[in-house]
Amino acid sequence: MNAHSRPLTDGSLTLLTEGYAWLPDRMRRRPDHVMRTRLMGRPTLAVRGPEAVRFFYDERNVRRHGAIPEPVLGTLFGHGPVHTLDGEAHRARKEFFLPLLHPDLVAGLVAHVTRVWAEEVPAWTAREQVVLFDEVSVILTRGVCAWAGIPLDRDEVRSTARDLVAMVDGFATLGPRHWRARRARGRQEDRLLRLVEDVRSGRRDARADSVLDRVTRHRDADGGLLDDGTAAVELLNVIRPTVAVSWFAVFTAHALHRWPESGDRLRAGDSAYTAAFVQEVRRFYPFAPFLGGRAARDLSWRGERIPAGGTVLLDVYGQNHDEELWGDPYAFRPERFLDRPAGRDELVPQGGADPRTGHRCPGEGLTIGLLEALAARLARLEYTVPEQDLSIPLGRMPTRPRSGFVMTGVRTPV
Ligand code: HEM
Repeated sequence: MNAHSRPLTDGSLTLLTEGYAWLPDRMRRRPDHVMRTRLMGRPTLAVRGPEAVRFFYDERNVRRHGAIPEPVLGTLFGHGPVHTLDGEAHRARKEFFLPLLHPDLVAGLVAHVTRVWAEEVPAWTAREQVVLFDEVSVILTRGVCAWAGIPLDRDEVRSTARDLVAMVDGFATLGPRHWRARRARGRQEDRLLRLVEDVRSGRRDARADSVLDRVTRHRDADGGLLDDGTAAVELLNVIRPTVAVSWFAVFTAHALHRWPESGDRLRAGDSAYTAAFVQEVRRFYPFAPFLGGRAARDLSWRGERIPAGGTVLLDVYGQNHDEELWGDPYAFRPERFLDRPAGRDELVPQGGADPRTGHRCPGEGLTIGLLEALAARLARLEYTVPEQDLSIPLGRMPTRPRSGFVMTGVRTPV
C-alpha cells in the first residue's frame, strides 16, 4: 500500500491530544518534509522548510479565506480580520498594520512597556511570591494600551489583562478554556466598539496618529471605512498579540533559569548576544504550532497532491526544530544566531515570507524589541526560583511552564 492508496484517518482528535508533537512526529518519517492527512474532514497537505514557505505564501497556491475554523476566529482573531483576507482586500487591510514595522513605533512601545516595568516591579519586592506570567501580562497590557492611545483605568488593568490572555489561551481547545476565551473576546470587543463609536462621534479624542486614531480612519479596498465592529476587532488584533508576548517573556525567564550562563552576557549589555538569545527563545519554545490555508487550485508539492479547496499546513513548530536547518535543534544555543543570522524563511515562529506582501506577522519587530528589553531586565532582576512545576506540556496549546514561573525574594537591581 503506498501513501496515495492508504486510507487517510482524520487527525483532528490526535491533534487535540498530541498538540505540538502531532505534526512534527508524523513529518519526521517523511524525508521530503511533506505529508498527506485529513483534518476536520478535509484532505490536508502539510509542508515545511524555506522552499515550502515560499510555496505556502504564494497566493496563487494558498489562500486564507475560509481557512481558519470558527472556534479560532471566535476566540483568537475575531470575525472579519486581516488574517482571513486575500488579494487586494488583504493588501489594503494590511496597510493599517504595516506602520508597526517601523523602528520608531517599536521604540515607542518598548519605551511605554519599560516605563510600566519600572513602575510595577518595585512592588514585587514586598510580595511573598510573584507569578511572572500574570505580572508581565499586566505590564504589557498597561504599556500597549498607553502606546495605542486606548484609555485604561487603573481598576480595569487586571481584568483586561486576564481577558487578553484568555483569548489566546482558549483558541485550541473546546473545553472550558474555549468558553472563557469567547466571553473574554465579547467583553473586549464591546469595550473597544464603544471606544471607536465615541471617537467617530466626536465624544472622545484619539491621540493623533495613534493606533486608535488610525483604525477609525483606515479605509479598506472598497474605499470605505471599517465598520465599528471590524475596527474593534483589528484594534484587538494589535493589543491581544502584544500581551501574548507574556508567553515568550516567561520562556525567557525559563531559559535564564535553565541556562544561567546566558544571563552574564545579557547583564553585561552585550546587544548582539541579547538579540541572538531572543531569536533562540522564539525558535526553541513552542507557541504557534502551524499555519493553515486553502489550496487555491489543484496543487502538488514534492510529489504529493492536494485538490483545490483542500487544507495546506505550514509546520511552524516542526520547521523551527528541523535537524537539517538548525543542527541539534533541541539544544538551546543562542550562539547559533551569532554564527549565522536566520534567513527570512528559515525562522518562522511568526510566519514566513514578506510581511508587506503576505500574512507574515507585522508585530515581529515589536515582539523582538519587547523581548530584548524584558530579557535584559529579567537577567538583572534578583530572585529565587522556588520548587515548582516548570514543565512545559507539549499536549497543551498554547503551552507555558505549568507554574507560570513563580519567583520569591525579588530584589530590584540597585
Ligand atoms: C500574524 C505570531 C505578536 C499582529 C501572525 C501569525 C503568526 C503570529 C504565526 C500568522 C502569520 C501567517 O498567517 O502567515 C505571533 C507571535 C507573537 C506575535 C508568536 C508574539 C507573541 C504580534 C504582535 C502584533 C501582531 C505584537 C501586533 C502588535 C499580528 C497580525 C497578524 C499576525 C495583525 C495578521 C497578519 C496578516 O494576516 O497579514 N502572528 N505574533 N502579532 N500578527 Fe502576530
